[in-house]
Amino acid sequence: MSFLDNFENYAKGPKFNEATKEILGHGIFNANGEQWKWQRKAASLIFNVKNFRDHFTELGFGVNIKALSHTEKVPFAASFDELQRHSFEKFIDPFVNVKRHLKKVFKPWETTPEQHLQIVDDFATSVIDGRRAQLARGEEHKDLLSRFMNARNEHGEPLNDRELRDTIMNFIIAGRDTTAQALSWTFYCLAQHPRVEEIMVKEIKDNITNDLEHDSSALYEKIKDMTYTHAVFHEVLRLYPSVPGNQKYALNDDIWPDGTPIRKGDYISWSPYASARCEKIWGPDAKLFKPERWLDSDSGALRRENAGKWPAFHAGPRTCLGQNLATLEAIVALAMLLRRYKFSLIPGQNITYNVSLTLPMKEGLKVLIEKRL
Ligand code: HEM
Repeated sequence: MSFLDNFENYAKGPKFNEATKEILGHGIFNANGEQWKWQRKAASLIFNVKNFRDHFTELGFGVNIKALSHTEKVPFAASFDELQRHSFEKFIDPFVNVKRHLKKVFKPWETTPEQHLQIVDDFATSVIDGRRAQLARGEEHKDLLSRFMNARNEHGEPLNDRELRDTIMNFIIAGRDTTAQALSWTFYCLAQHPRVEEIMVKEIKDNITNDLEHDSSALYEKIKDMTYTHAVFHEVLRLYPSVPGNQKYALNDDIWPDGTPIRKGDYISWSPYASARCEKIWGPDAKLFKPERWLDSDSGALRRENAGKWPAFHAGPRTCLGQNLATLEAIVALAMLLRRYKFSLIPGQNITYNVSLTLPMKEGLKVLIEKRL
């Protein structure tokens, strides 16, 4: 990616900032320059290797939204999803604001984006207030929220409630749908490729035991060496990248190493989803699901592709901060589930993606779950 050579020149851009400002505020995804730098620094300190190895199972916000015990979506999650959908619409539909106003007149019973925003903000406020009260009572917490409460902004001050709210929203967007969707696509790919599933389940069974599941550090060490399972996850993210398309905005004129002229105000976009299927980049088997492409044919070791070829986690200074966490979380979830259960697709489903900022399945994934013997 040539624009990495001149990183400072490429920003998120006014369109992205405008479309996502309600939900993301000034959080890391929406920030540029100094505002981005301090957030990246604060978050990098939290995502260091030691924190990871010993505490990766606690790196949430310390709140259980109990989504699994509700038959309906919980209000926070429903409003959060609506706001995300609305942000994406702003990208693709120039009339979105007009439609928003018309809806208020013709469908006054529907929850408006402003009301969704209120629900989401109230939730964030209650989480922050609750944690402040717990800390005041002397409780100790090691999750992301507590760590950000100890972080400093660009002026060296502790984060105020607005900055904490933006942090929560940005990290939920970053970490929730991306990893969850990658897991759905993994189950889909495995169900279609029993050969791959068999090798992966064997690797899981050879490595993971009941005792290990309760010991973060030991689990971390074991999972690190589960090469085939990593290859499967990388291959899923190659064909089904959780961020399927992306863009940057040129702040000034530039010339790329290959001579391509870029003008101030240009948008540069790329699609990891499309490039994964491109034979020029991945060879004649580009469209096939083939985890073996990630393994060195001599040593069997995991091969890393450069981020230009495999931009699933972005590249350069803005590369995904949660890459290791996401990979670990996903593999832990896969290991725990696949050790115990077999998942097969219910026939007759239409499995395709929805066009969005991330890559959800349009109609979900219906599976039959059987206990594995
Ligand atoms: C499979 C899962 C994931 C994928 C595919 C993924 C992918 C990405 C991509 C493509 C970006 C760049 C977005 C952009 O700026 O244009 C990004 C940024 C980021 N991701 Fe992830 N991500 C995943 C999971 C996570 C998790 C679990 C976390 C943390 C809890 C996380 C935290 C972040 C943060 C903080 C950024 C912003 C980095 C910055 O702008 O400096 N991600 N991710």
